[in-house]
Amino acid sequence: MLNRSARVLATVLLTATSAFAQKPTDLTVRIAKLADQQQARVIAWRRDIHEHPELGNQETRTAALVAGHLRKLGLEVQTGVARTGVVALLKGGRPGPVVALRADMDALPVTEAAGLPFASKVRTQYNGQDVGVMHACGHDTHVAMLLGAAEVLSQLKKDLPGTVKFIFQPAEEGSLPGQEGGARLMVKEGVLENPTVEAVFGVHIQAQTEVGQLSYRPGGEMASSDVFSIKVKGKSAHGAYPWLAVDPVVTAAQIILGLQTIVSRQAQLTEDAVVLTVGMVHGGVRNNIIPEQVELTGTIRCLNKEMQQKVWAGVRRTAQGIAESAGATAEVDITNYAPITFNDPLLTRRMVASLERAAGPANVRVQKAVTGAEDFAFYQEKVPGLFVFVGGMAKGTDPATTAPHHTAGFVVDESGLTLGVRTLATLAADYLTTTKK
Ligand code: NI
Repeated sequence: MLNRSARVLATVLLTATSAFAQKPTDLTVRIAKLADQQQARVIAWRRDIHEHPELGNQETRTAALVAGHLRKLGLEVQTGVARTGVVALLKGGRPGPVVALRADMDALPVTEAAGLPFASKVRTQYNGQDVGVMHACGHDTHVAMLLGAAEVLSQLKKDLPGTVKFIFQPAEEGSLPGQEGGARLMVKEGVLENPTVEAVFGVHIQAQTEVGQLSYRPGGEMASSDVFSIKVKGKSAHGAYPWLAVDPVVTAAQIILGLQTIVSRQAQLTEDAVVLTVGMVHGGVRNNIIPEQVELTGTIRCLNKEMQQKVWAGVRRTAQGIAESAGATAEVDITNYAPITFNDPLLTRRMVASLERAAGPANVRVQKAVTGAEDFAFYQEKVPGLFVFVGGMAKGTDPATTAPHHTAGFVVDESGLTLGVRTLATLAADYLTTTKK
């Protein structure tokens, strides 16, 4: 606990920092005004895209709409990046750094049931099933907000020192098996080069946070997502004579419990959270036959790279050690699906003032980490980045009764979109104008 004089000093310092932070710059005032003027158009784009959702790597209509608008703004537009992605360059009136703003464009195989007048009626075949297609994660709002930011920044062009690269990315939700896509492929195809991007910003709408609010977390904000598979190999025998077998079922059961001690006994949970879930157990065909093999498959979520490495090593050691103790073997395979969405601490500290200018200091908060993953992380692996959540829930609503992302009842309060436009434009403009060369 702070003593009294330290408390007074802390209060003075806090007041001084936030007074400095929220002081509007000339650019902030102009951005706010221009973003307000874009509100109706941003909502119209959002509704159009919402009504015509497209699954990952199939976003051709959305990409054409995006490219069309960006060309009207006189930007240099490149299409077909990582299949359906669109990348555009806005060159400011003076030389300076290159900053990127990113939006994802894909929808999900969810049948919409929120009863909106512009609800999606699109259907598709997915995994052999006939399902609806819906923007159930709000990526339609991301596209609309980034188009709005492109409009705003275009009007400030002559005062911007440097370049803004707009990245409209396909397939954030993942690609079909065997298909590449999303941020990983965008990076592979060189989206962060030519010209070289120095920092990247992105926003995500949040259906459980009130409109007008921004939140972020320095460091690990969203988790890495790793898939692991453990093949426990024993020796088959009649279920009545287990002494003739090396039982992979019992060994697999011990491994499942052993894996949980990696989280509870080995991970420094005061540092960051770790999740390890076994989601599938496959083995055996009949009640009285001890099978040859049992396969365990699961997911690992980490918020810190060192912890992730320790967990990977722990999974291998635990599975192999327990298998060996039973006379069995364990073949462990771990694959990274998405890295940690890691907000560069220095960049984050530098840009908090911009978030406060965009939303007002009282409306910006540090949030808890999320154990879901986001492929924005692939850009952050290469260049410092900051990923910010924008409130999309109607004021006065109880978040507990609001439909979560990825569900049929998911809705966004569109009055929150202007803040997203302001945030993206402010982050880019502030980064360009405050980078010392
Ligand atoms: Ni999403």
